[in-house]
This record gives sequence, structure tokens and C-alpha cells, in this order.
Amino acid sequence: MRTASKTCWIPLLMALALPAVAATQTKIDFGKAEFEANCAACHGVSGKGGGPITELLKRSPSDLTTLQKRNAGIFPMARVYDTIDGVGVAEHGTRDMPIWGRDYSVKAAEYYLDVPYNQEAYVRARILSLVEYLSRIQAK
Ligand code: HEC
Repeated sequence: MRTASKTCWIPLLMALALPAVAATQTKIDFGKAEFEANCAACHGVSGKGGGPITELLKRSPSDLTTLQKRNAGIFPMARVYDTIDGVGVAEHGTRDMPIWGRDYSVKAAEYYLDVPYNQEAYVRARILSLVEYLSRIQAK
């Protein structure tokens, strides 16, 4: 009797577990989400520029879908990474583009608070997800 009732539970448990498995397999596009949250205000949701706050800027945000085209057909991975990170940008420059390397460092500190973590790895992962996303939206 005991074993029989246990067997009855198995299909029920499987039925309950399946939607959970399906839900965890939904692909989250981290780079896209990151772009829409941090970049679309200036560069537009499509990446082509003309985001809602463009009028407030001195310089127009670049069309990020033509990075590859403008670089002889090769996606300028390192330059894009450095632009987002803010490498080589003067501390008080006239640049309208925010310095995300620094912003992400602050976010990492807030996120992990007392837990030991590798700040550089956190910043790098976020920037790389953005670079990878941008490489996917390049105009052919
Ligand atoms: C406050 C507005 C603003 C936000 C937010 C912003 N950008 Fe920019 N971005 C600009 C402007 C303006 C330029 C043009 C050059 C400059 O001022 O540095 C630019 C230039 C760039 C360039 C260089 C393009 C080229 O032609 O070489 C890249 C790459 C870039 N942005 C990526 C991003 C990414 C990725 C994000 C989100 C993490 C982002 N930007 C968020 C305003 C912004």
C-alpha cells in the first residue's frame, strides 16, 4: 500500500516540476536588457541614435549599428569596449557619453556590499555583454 501511494505521486510531482524546468530555460538576453536599461535613452532602442534625451546633449549619440561598416567591415571590439569602459577619457572632458567602467564599479560595490567579490570581473562581464550585443545589431 505504501509503495503504491508513492508511485501515484511521481507523475504529479513531474507535472509540477516541468513548468519550472521550462521557465528556467527561457533565454535571458543580458546584453540587450543592459543596453535598453543604460544606453537606449541616448542611442535609441534600435541603437541607431535619437533616444529621448538626445536634445539635451551637446553631441549626437552615434549610430551604434554602423560601427562595423564604418570600420571597413570589421567590428571594432577593443575600441567599443574601451569607449564603454571609459579608458583614455579625461576626468573632466566634454564627453557626453557616461563612463560606465566607473558606474559599474559603484554598482558592484552596492550589489555585493559585505560579500567578497572580484570587482574587475563584475565590470568586465557587464561591458562584454554589451559589446557582444552591439556586435549582433550591426547593419549588414
Ligand atoms: C547620456 C547619453 C549617452 C548614454 C546613456 C550612452 N551614450 Fe554612448 N555615446 C553618447 C554620445 C554623445 C556619443 C558620441 C561621442 C561622445 O560624446 O563620446 C557616444 C558614443 C558611443 C560609442 C562610440 C561610437 C563610435 O562611433 O565610435 C559607443 C560604442 C557607445 N556610445 C556605446 C554606448 C553604450 C554601450 C551605452 C550604454 C552602456 C552608451 N553608449 C550610453 C551618449 C551616450
